[in-house]
Amino acid sequence: MFDYLAPFYDEFLSVSGRYTTKPVLENASFREDSLVLDVGGGTGHLGEKISGSIDLDYIVLDESEKMLKRAARKDLYCIIKSSSSYLPFRDEVFDYVVCVDALHHFEDKVKSLEEMMRVLKRDGVFYLLDFLPKKLVTRVICFFERLSGESTYFCSPSEIDKYIIGSSEYRALNSFQFLLKANKN
Ligand SMILES: C[S@@+](CC[C@H](N)C(=O)[O-])C[C@H]1O[C@@H](n2cnc3c(N)ncnc32)[C@H](O)[C@@H]1O
Repeated sequence: MFDYLAPFYDEFLSVSGRYTTKPVLENASFREDSLVLDVGGGTGHLGEKISGSIDLDYIVLDESEKMLKRAARKDLYCIIKSSSSYLPFRDEVFDYVVCVDALHHFEDKVKSLEEMMRVLKRDGVFYLLDFLPKKLVTRVICFFERLSGESTYFCSPSEIDKYIIGSSEYRALNSFQFLLKANKN
């Protein structure tokens, strides 16, 4: 689906980004000189904003070549084409792992969460933004995404928490979205 959406995705985000990019920028914090991995990072919209305001190395990983082609036009450290189920990195290399509006698209959510935890350093921070299951907005999104062939499934923060190494907390951003923050120990 995202290969088709790629040419319009940044324009789409200029509206929908208030529910994805904006809350992350407002609620997450990043250290200078850190290494960040954005899994399902798409066109690098969030990465461009973060690395434009803090001096850090931001990697966008995505399985859609066309989304990554858009990301390649931005000032990011690097882009990587891969599935979230097999992150091509050694253990514990990233200071931050970010996953925004993407987990519900991943075919293997458990493997993806395990992989994101594996590549995160001890004391590293994981940020995940997604939609709360069972809410009306979420059901509508689910309906349309499944119609277009996506294997959409929304996990609750407590389902995600089972795969977190360390402690996690989440805050509801509104009636249908949450931002989870985990500190790996
Ligand atoms: C809704 S977009 C979100 C993009 C970006 N995080 C943002 O907030 O703008 C979901 C992204 O997840 C990517 N994606 C879906 N399944 C994936 C997988 N298994 N591995 C890597 N990326 C995946 C899609 O290609 C798409 O770019």
